[in-house]
Amino acid sequence: MDNLLKGIEEVLLMGPGPSCVHPDVYKALSRDTLGHLDPYFIKIMDEIQVLLQEVMNTKNQLTLPISGTGSAGMESCFVNLIEPKDRVLILINGVFGKRMQEVSTRLGANVDTIEFDWGTPIGPEVVKEKLENNTYEVIATVHAETSTGVLNPIAEISKLLKGRDSLFLVDVVTSLGGIEVSLDGWNIDASYSGSQKCLSCPPGLAPVSFSDNAFSKIMNRETKVPNWYLDMSLIGQYWQQDRKRVYHHTAPVNMLYALYQSLVLFKEEGPSNVFKRHVECHLKLKEGLKGLGLEMFVEEPYRLPMLNAVTIPDGVDEAEVRKRLRMEHKIEIGGGLGPLAGKIWRIGLMGHTARIENVERLLKALDAILN
Ligand SMILES: Cc1ncc(COP(=O)(O)O)c(C=O)c1O
Repeated sequence: MDNLLKGIEEVLLMGPGPSCVHPDVYKALSRDTLGHLDPYFIKIMDEIQVLLQEVMNTKNQLTLPISGTGSAGMESCFVNLIEPKDRVLILINGVFGKRMQEVSTRLGANVDTIEFDWGTPIGPEVVKEKLENNTYEVIATVHAETSTGVLNPIAEISKLLKGRDSLFLVDVVTSLGGIEVSLDGWNIDASYSGSQKCLSCPPGLAPVSFSDNAFSKIMNRETKVPNWYLDMSLIGQYWQQDRKRVYHHTAPVNMLYALYQSLVLFKEEGPSNVFKRHVECHLKLKEGLKGLGLEMFVEEPYRLPMLNAVTIPDGVDEAEVRKRLRMEHKIEIGGGLGPLAGKIWRIGLMGHTARIENVERLLKALDAILN
């Protein structure tokens, strides 16, 4: 029997995620598996929590990686914080805001939404107006909307929530490790990310963080969290420092080594250098695309450095271009989702992908295909 793993090629991952994995992270994955309650492994867990608090800029005790992808992080935030009939407001301008609506509706919440055009940011003025006559238990939105390449004004939205009782829930899947994320600075109560974007790690873990207010809501629920696997009051007992750890589920030990290594790399390079590297790559890509006659889809002030949405020119078969990039040049980029399918390409510059030589390689390949 042919082992299929032999046929895996190295592909330059320049789509919306997963992104390229750092070689040191691959090495970390292949270290010996320890028991999930092994004292040495527990040391690594403790350190992961500290490093996550640093990258998320929070003092939240309940900060840890959920075993699962970003969507498990999303589910864990909603399933723990929402009880049936709770009023939830979701600010939507892309696929992942829509997913929040779907998740919270399934939990029986009383869901209200404000929708903005895809490709434009959330407008704080509209949110302000909505809040004048309504109260919500939870207000949720996405920091970096990967489906459109838009950066949402989380700091401004946060100011509107001052003095209100609502919990603020923010998706930082694509932003974490690529641009500044400040949970405490923006008074965010619950947040989740994913390992496979700007953290240069494979998919499989979802860092989450809950404020004291969020934790108190979880501990004072009238109903049990309806999902055992994602119940933070139980998972928290396995991750709690200074106390006896209680088995909940078998932690994905090697993935946690990988996350640990990626967080060490982030710290060693330094947040400001990492963010600068992402911006420099974005600017280089933008200039290069302009030279090829291609236009960015999102207005300049709201563009994400790590997710570049590019308008597909008339007459170009976008799927064919992506196919040729993959087959002839071993580069992956993404297409549009939902209403943007066929209208944009999504070029990711996330984590270890965000290097100038990768941008140059993509621009050369696009030039060869388009011209
Ligand atoms: C902003 C955002 N939120 C949530 C998700 C869901 O994450 P996953 O696909 O890892 O479950 C993604 C994935 O692309 C995302 O970009």
